[in-house]
This record gives sequence, C-alpha cells and structure tokens, in this order.
Amino acid sequence: MRTTAGIPVARRVGGFVYAIRNIVNEARKVEASGRKVRYLNIGDPITFGFKTPPHLIEAVQRAMRDGHNGYAPSVGILPAREAVAGELSRRGMPASPDRVIITSGTSEGIELTLTALAEGGDEVLVPAPTYPLYTAVLAKIGARPAFYRTDPSRGWLPDVDHIRSLITPATRALVVIDPNNPTGATYPGDVRRALIDLADTHNIPLLADEVYGDLAYAGPVPPIASLAPDAPIISFSSLSKAYLAPGWRAGWMAVGRTDRLDDVLAGVKKLADGRLCSTAPMEYAIPAALNGDRSHEAGFRAALAERAALTVSRLNAIPGMHTVAPSAAFYAMPHVSLPAGVTDEDYVLALLRETGILCVHGSGFATRPEDGFFRVVFLAPPEELAGIYDDIAAFTGDFLARGGSAAS
Ligand SMILES: Cc1ncc(COP(=O)(O)O)c(C=O)c1O
Repeated sequence: MRTTAGIPVARRVGGFVYAIRNIVNEARKVEASGRKVRYLNIGDPITFGFKTPPHLIEAVQRAMRDGHNGYAPSVGILPAREAVAGELSRRGMPASPDRVIITSGTSEGIELTLTALAEGGDEVLVPAPTYPLYTAVLAKIGARPAFYRTDPSRGWLPDVDHIRSLITPATRALVVIDPNNPTGATYPGDVRRALIDLADTHNIPLLADEVYGDLAYAGPVPPIASLAPDAPIISFSSLSKAYLAPGWRAGWMAVGRTDRLDDVLAGVKKLADGRLCSTAPMEYAIPAALNGDRSHEAGFRAALAERAALTVSRLNAIPGMHTVAPSAAFYAMPHVSLPAGVTDEDYVLALLRETGILCVHGSGFATRPEDGFFRVVFLAPPEELAGIYDDIAAFTGDFLARGGSAAS
C-alpha cells in the first residue's frame, strides 16, 4: 500500500494509446486464472517460428567482433545508407545516401518525422483503420489525427475524395500505409497516383509506410515514390518484417529528392543527433539484407498467402462474420455483426476470457467501437490456425446467440 500520494505523470501519457500491447494486460489476467493464451495480437514472425536469415545474423556478429560497438553516426553508417539508397533506386525511387537516415525501426523514423513536421494544433491525415503508432505519436506531440476513410466494401482502399475534404491550412502530412496493417490491403496504381497527386498539389509530405512492401503475396510492391520521384514523399521501412529481424530495431527512412523536403530532412537529422544513433552492430545487417541473398522471401510470402487463404475461408464461413481477403502481410480485419450496444472490445475481451484467443479490437486501430471490427494476426502454423478458427466460430455463434452478454 502507498504511504503517500503517487507521483503524477504528464497528461500526454493518457493520450498515448497502443492497443496492440496494452491489451496484453488483460491476457496476463486470463493466464493468471490458469487458461493458456494464444497471442494473435502482435505481428512478430519470430514468435511463430519463422527464422532470421543466417547471413544477417553473421553480419551482426561480425560487426560486433570487428569492434563496431561504439556509437555510429546519427544518420547511420554509410554502407547501410548506400544499401538503402541503392535498393530504392533499383525499385524506381531515386535516392541518395545523404537523404537516408538509419533509424531504430520504421517506428523511430515515423516518430522523428512527425516530430519534425507537426506541433500543437496541427493535423496529420491518417487512415482509419490505422497502425496505432501514428495516433500515439500525434498525441505525444500535441497534434491531431484527421482520419480518412478506407472502405471495406472496396477492399479497404482509401477514399481519396474524403482525404481531399479533410485538407485544411493545419494539415502537415498525409500518412499512407501500403501494404496496409491492419487490413492487409495493397493499393492499385490509380489510387497511389491519386494520393501522390493530393500530396503534390497541396504541398503536403506523403509519409509512405512501406514496411510490408516485400510481403505482397504477388511479389514485392514498388515504393510509391517510384510513380513520382519529384513529389514530396518520405519512405519508411525496416528489417522487422520481410527480413525477419523485428527485435533488432534496424530501420530506415529515405527522403525524396525534391528540394521541398530539404528543411524536413535537416529537421529530422537535427532530432536524430539527440538520440545519438540506432543500434550500431545491427546497422551492418542492412547492407547484408538489401544487397545479399533474399531467397527466404519467396518462401515467407508463400507461407503468408497460404495462411491468408485459410483465414478468409474459415472466417467467412462463420455466420455473422465477414473478412476482406488480404493481399499482403499477416493481418486480417474481420467484421462481426454485433448486437446493438455491444462494442468490438466487448467481443474481443469475451473471446479472450472464454477461449484464451487474444486479438485486438478494431477501435484500437481507430474504427468505431460499434462497427464490430477486430484484427487477427495469422502467423501461426496452418494446423494451429485451423483450431483457433474452430474456437472463434464456436465462441462467436454462442456470443451472438446470447446477444453479446457475458457468459453465464
Ligand atoms: C504499418 C507498420 N508500420 C510500422 C511498424 C513498426 O515496425 P518497426 O519494427 O520497423 O518499427 C509496424 C509494426 O507492426 C507496422 O505494422
């Protein structure tokens, strides 16, 4: 018991919500009651048995043995920046090493860039649903998300007219997550061009989260900037997903070549100085990944496509549930027809408590609680997933039959 009052935290902590991990507290309580929890909340391929390619591990080990254990330059080591610039240039986004910054994952690039671009009262166009880091960082810096619709009846594509209607003098950036988490959508060329056009004509930087770019089942997606190399586009990615090394926190951002982005680049570099550098030995894995053997990727994509097909067929067979087929990554965003007054979180928490299956409610990604979406991570082996979907089917039938009330 506390003897004196607890020490208060800053108000901004209350606005910093990252549901994907926050919901784990509920799972721990379920585990404490003796029930095994199946974690389908975090998109980490390693926890489901996928392996980091050995040549990346060797590159990091070699870097450590060779004594690269001091601080790196704050923008990152030159071979890593050259590798990123080379990779993006090969894929159609002309990039130079002096416009690349090596970051602690995609996440740090996003945080540095939003911090450089927006402040109190500013707005950033963010998709709904969104990967929640965007809203969390905006809450931290006192800026506001302006949510634009992505439409499940059109394969979760962004509603470009809606985005246009949200642009105001306070708009500082347009976030585009393609391929998308949480929906698994990839955007066709005409949608990508329309998004670029908005950014270009309104002179708003397009922040392209391309961390799943190599994980479209049909093959790698080119960076969006390849369609318009002179538009104000910043591309973000990392070794976390396609290169199976999420714990290394090895990522990068590449600032488009237009001089309209020069001040933003300088601002991000200034902020990056303050955090010294990303993890130095892991930076050596970036050239190994981008210039080396990528034979693991085709197998990983095939494994994901198989799991996606299983997920769609099994979830769409459940009465009251429908999911749009993902075309990339390892997420699906099913819809469940909830009774009036029942929220997505009620559904997800009841699912957790009654079956031990942990998913994340759609409102954790900024859909409306009454809309009834939740996100599934489908990285588990197919036979395990099949059992999980049996349990979700049995639970959902029961939950809907009792009108969404707690189990008796
Ligand atoms: C869309 C999106 N962006 C960024 C990240 C963070 O990735 P990183 O590990 O590179 O920071 C994730 C992780 O799940 C993600 O889904």
